[in-house]
Amino acid sequence: MNLKPKIQTPLVAASILAADHSNLASETLLAHQAGADWLHIDVMDGHFVPSISFGPSIVKAVRPHFPSTLDVHLMISNPEKHIKSFAEAGADIITVHLEENPHIYRTLQFIKSLGVQCGLAINPGTHIHAVEPLLPLLDLVLVMTVNPGFGGQKFLHDQCSKISTLRSWIDNASSKTLISVDGGISPLTAHLAFNAGAHVLVAGTAFFNGEPNQYAQNLLKIRHADPQ
Ligand code: DX5
Ligand code: ZN
Repeated sequence: MNLKPKIQTPLVAASILAADHSNLASETLLAHQAGADWLHIDVMDGHFVPSISFGPSIVKAVRPHFPSTLDVHLMISNPEKHIKSFAEAGADIITVHLEENPHIYRTLQFIKSLGVQCGLAINPGTHIHAVEPLLPLLDLVLVMTVNPGFGGQKFLHDQCSKISTLRSWIDNASSKTLISVDGGISPLTAHLAFNAGAHVLVAGTAFFNGEPNQYAQNLLKIRHADPQ
């Protein structure tokens, strides 16, 4: 599976946190049919973040309904305990948080050892320079543009400078690492993240908005958001 195409417009990852949870198989397939490039699955443990959401069984359940990339975002404490279960459930990318992980390098190596692409997420309060030494290991950096734990929050504009800094490091190193931006992405904010250097935009509320026959239109409004 090619996760790194030449990008003129952002890839869009539909976040099923905002989907109808009583109908996840159907919502997943609808997201694919609407043109979502990736399916983003937010895993929350009620400890690292206040909410509880999905586990590996949900990843396994939606896997057959989404033929492209399953992008699993772990917002959990001690992620290394659960990474293997998510890999076995069919995750293509597993992203862990930098925060509260004294052995992040080892955690990333472990993800890669399972043959899964590895991502590193950073909270709004985390300095971007902490990412720099880890870049050669990373397939993805996920920049949080809200405080993690809930969908439907307001985009934090001050995080855009982090995206630009990161993009300059990646381009200067001719690296293939992708930048994903997660939180508050909408037709009004998508261009801010994309112009700052994002390759992938994660969208929950703005993607699963309205009836399923609107999802394709929602996606186009995010992907081609007016840069002015
Ligand atoms: C927040 C999650 C996001 C969330 C985004 O903790 O990581 O992926 O689904 O939701 P929206 O697009 O509604 O901000
Ligand atoms: Zn997420």
